[in-house]
Amino acid sequence: MYGTIGILTGGGDAPGLNAVIRAVVKTATCEHGMRVIGIEDGFEGLLGATKTRLLSPSEVRGLLPRGGTILGTRNRGFFVERARDGGKRNVESVYEEAMSNMKVLGIDALVVLGGEGTLTIANEFDKRGIPVCGVPKTIDNDLACTELTFGFVTALDIATEALDRLHTTAESHDRVMILEVMGRHAGWIALHCGIAGGADVILIPEIPFSLETVAEKIRARDRAGSNFSIIVVAEGALEIGHDLVYQDQGDEQHAPRLGGIGHHLQRDLEQVTGRETRCVILGHLQRGGRPNAFDRMLATNFGSCAVRALANGEHGVMVALQAGDVVSVPLTDAIKNIKTVPPEGQLVRTARDTGISFGAPDEANYHKPL
Ligand code: F6P
Repeated sequence: MYGTIGILTGGGDAPGLNAVIRAVVKTATCEHGMRVIGIEDGFEGLLGATKTRLLSPSEVRGLLPRGGTILGTRNRGFFVERARDGGKRNVESVYEEAMSNMKVLGIDALVVLGGEGTLTIANEFDKRGIPVCGVPKTIDNDLACTELTFGFVTALDIATEALDRLHTTAESHDRVMILEVMGRHAGWIALHCGIAGGADVILIPEIPFSLETVAEKIRARDRAGSNFSIIVVAEGALEIGHDLVYQDQGDEQHAPRLGGIGHHLQRDLEQVTGRETRCVILGHLQRGGRPNAFDRMLATNFGSCAVRALANGEHGVMVALQAGDVVSVPLTDAIKNIKTVPPEGQLVRTARDTGISFGAPDEANYHKPL
């Protein structure tokens, strides 16, 4: 049994981070008699002068519905930056510094809330002897070994509401409306909200699209008397024969940022269909604000189960949702590959069966556009 566990949040924020922190603190303190130290700004809080604070149950009061993370987060690879530091430091020395600081702070084990990038670093700590339990976080829902990450369902609610709202304005103006949602490598948000929000076209990274197929779907709807069309596009969707669209190409210190495919599509579709088209980029509205009821519940269950896993002597694991239950899976399995939408899977098939186009050039093989 550990005396003190550290907790940190890494990567982009997601609704439910604070609910996990709350559950970890309550379970660790009240059920297992452990102390919990909150590490600020992701792994960066373990370096230099260190940024930490003791988290007591009174400290986490009222956190369940609060968005963001009270601990702060970072989504740049600080170990890489540090290692670059004029070429003077290597990655190993950064781990050593963090681990010796943990020793001074009395941290025996870590609960790490993050996506694939953060959990990859967490796994390195576990390999170096700090017991770690990961908690799967990302609005993209692209972590392997878990059916859901917390934050995803809230993001989905927000994107679906946006689609509902775009429907009424699209219909009133006889327009094509495009909603660009997050999803770099995986189209889960676009796929789920497109189905829930009744989109006519869903464009995702896993199914490269042709502009002509999308245009033909819009023309077919026109011919059938539908005076408007709704398109949802993931930021990482790829038009065949083109490159991904970036907002920012990134540099030595910052990762490239995708975004802007919706505006490209707006311009090109307007040109080829002659239909008035508008685009909305939903962006960080999907990440900020209150978690919904489901994510509060899932986050709480994940947090509590993570502490129980550590208390039971497990390490190098991530809590995961499988068949409705929270289980532990090896971290190495969770970070091996990201979970993408299977193009031939049930949900894509259902979308196609209900008249949704994915803009694939061979679309006619799947269905006749409604
Ligand atoms: O991984 C979560 C995510 O929201 C991605 O979908 C998106 O591409 C990225 O983070 C945006 O990150 P940033 O906040 O750095 O712009």
